[in-house]
Amino acid sequence: MLLSDKPKFYGRRQGRKIRKAKSSLLDCFLPKVAIKPETPIDKSLFNIPTNELWLEIGFGNGEHLAAQALKHPDIGFIGAEVFKNGIANLLTLLTGIKQNTDMPEHITLLPERVDNVRIWDDDVRLLFTRIPDGALSRVFLLFPDPWPKKRHASRRFVNPENLKEIARILQKGGLFRIATDHPVYKSWTLRRMTEDHNFRWTAKTGNDWRRQPADWVETKYQRKAVAEGRRPIFLDFERL
Ligand SMILES: C[S@@+](CC[C@H](N)C(=O)[O-])C[C@H]1O[C@@H](n2cnc3c(N)ncnc32)[C@H](O)[C@@H]1O
Repeated sequence: MLLSDKPKFYGRRQGRKIRKAKSSLLDCFLPKVAIKPETPIDKSLFNIPTNELWLEIGFGNGEHLAAQALKHPDIGFIGAEVFKNGIANLLTLLTGIKQNTDMPEHITLLPERVDNVRIWDDDVRLLFTRIPDGALSRVFLLFPDPWPKKRHASRRFVNPENLKEIARILQKGGLFRIATDHPVYKSWTLRRMTEDHNFRWTAKTGNDWRRQPADWVETKYQRKAVAEGRRPIFLDFERL
């Protein structure tokens, strides 16, 4: 891909100064779990047997990804995130290392974890083209940046181009889960998704989208939204 073909990313790549322990995790542990440019994107990413591959797009601080990976040791998880502070936080959740004084000579996963998480520390759109057709059985897009202003609508992640790629990499019958707390993004997403004939909204009653799914893991962004009075919705789509 030429540099000029790189899609423009409008979010933040880094926030406040990263503390020493997290910075060491980024230097020493991230390379062990990061997806390298030449690696094939399939089950061979993992050194353990995996039954399925799940992708989380924009995992933020990584709470959902870390908890799902712990709950499902037989699934291979790919997490994509651009925000360095969030990636560092996920590494803390995976290793349990919070302080530099906890830093061992060889950093390892927490003993209760298996090696089932791989991280793409860049724009997920650069990874899409490397994922084979139907390779994934679940894709999570939780609280994507809403870009509520009309003039920023083209920045919204739920758009026909990205949906086409997600439909391609998700196997038939696979789950695409989107959560959002923003009124503009709620109606935007429902319109885009119902226009897209590759997906079927699985909700049968209002509770199916107003209530958190049974296997839900709360995220930092979600807690903030609820504290500020915004009510999230949870949309599950089946790949047809
Ligand atoms: C509003 S935050 C939500 C984070 C998290 N999902 C949560 O619920 O707490 C959206 C996240 O998506 C990430 N993001 C946005 N576009 C992305 C892209 N194209 N590739 C990877 N990550 C992306 C941003 O960096 C940001 O951390």
